[in-house]
Amino acid sequence: MNQKELVDNINRLKKEKNAIVLAHTYQNVEIDEIADFSGDSLYLSRMAAKTDADIIVFAGVYFMAETAKILSPDKTVLLPKLNAGCAMADKINLEQLRAFKSKYPNVPVVCYVNSTAEVKSESDICCTSANAVNVVKSLGAKEVLFVPDQHLGSYVESQLDEVKVITYPGFCPVHHAITVDDINKQKNANPNAKVMVHPECPSAVTELADFVGSTTGIIKTVKSSDEKEFIIVTEKGVVERLERDCPDKKFILIYEKAVCETMKLIHLEDIFNSLKNNEFEIKVDENIIKKAVIPIDRMVSVNA
Ligand code: 13P
Ligand code: SF4
Repeated sequence: MNQKELVDNINRLKKEKNAIVLAHTYQNVEIDEIADFSGDSLYLSRMAAKTDADIIVFAGVYFMAETAKILSPDKTVLLPKLNAGCAMADKINLEQLRAFKSKYPNVPVVCYVNSTAEVKSESDICCTSANAVNVVKSLGAKEVLFVPDQHLGSYVESQLDEVKVITYPGFCPVHHAITVDDINKQKNANPNAKVMVHPECPSAVTELADFVGSTTGIIKTVKSSDEKEFIIVTEKGVVERLERDCPDKKFILIYEKAVCETMKLIHLEDIFNSLKNNEFEIKVDENIIKKAVIPIDRMVSVNA
């Protein structure tokens, strides 16, 4: 099937099966052609919570599909590639969370949505990169534990007076690898460009940013800006979408290897197969759902 046939067949199957496709900003850009909603983790969680569809096909990674299932347990949630994992979510399991919590009794746990359902089930509140600062603020606590992303946790602490954020030493390999030298090199080559940084980057990098925010936050800020040149310090999918939507502006990806390999596993053909064969269905243990939905619901109700 060529691309047009694939798109037509996916749209037909979506209608026949009352299905929607949610696509994360790091997906291969052609996925947006058939996506009902595209955006950052917070936006997609909100869409998963409120859809009337019977089937949600998640073009993203495993924890995103799992979160959609927890929010909509009566719906069928499909992940077109089962091996589309997240290296950050794999950095902490339940035992490691329990050991971390036991060192700081009675300190609330804020859990980045990039985590397993089990880890969420023993956390107090979830957050995404879009709402992490407001989520932590909403707790009114002097101290919080933050898992698994040390960098997002440090960024949150830098934005709030009088809150100590105790971070777990997890990270996203795609963002963790970006250095001050990489930023300075691009700034020297593009002196008029604004530096747009995802908060999964190390604090030395976010400190050099003109703007720090989620993938959708970066995209919206660029679109509404009068500036013409931007250094994009996150995954390549953001640059591909900006180049498509803003042909009059110039975008410089921090470097070519800023790519999340597991986000790129899904192609139109996989979405077609997923809808046709109902594959691969994401199941979450009922008891875990009951516990994990609490911190996710709390997150969804905090204003970004
Ligand atoms: P956001 O789209 O929520 O900014 O998240 C980035 C990310 O790494 C998702 O895995
Ligand atoms: Fe996980 Fe990083 Fe990929 Fe996001 S970019 S899905 S945090 S490995």
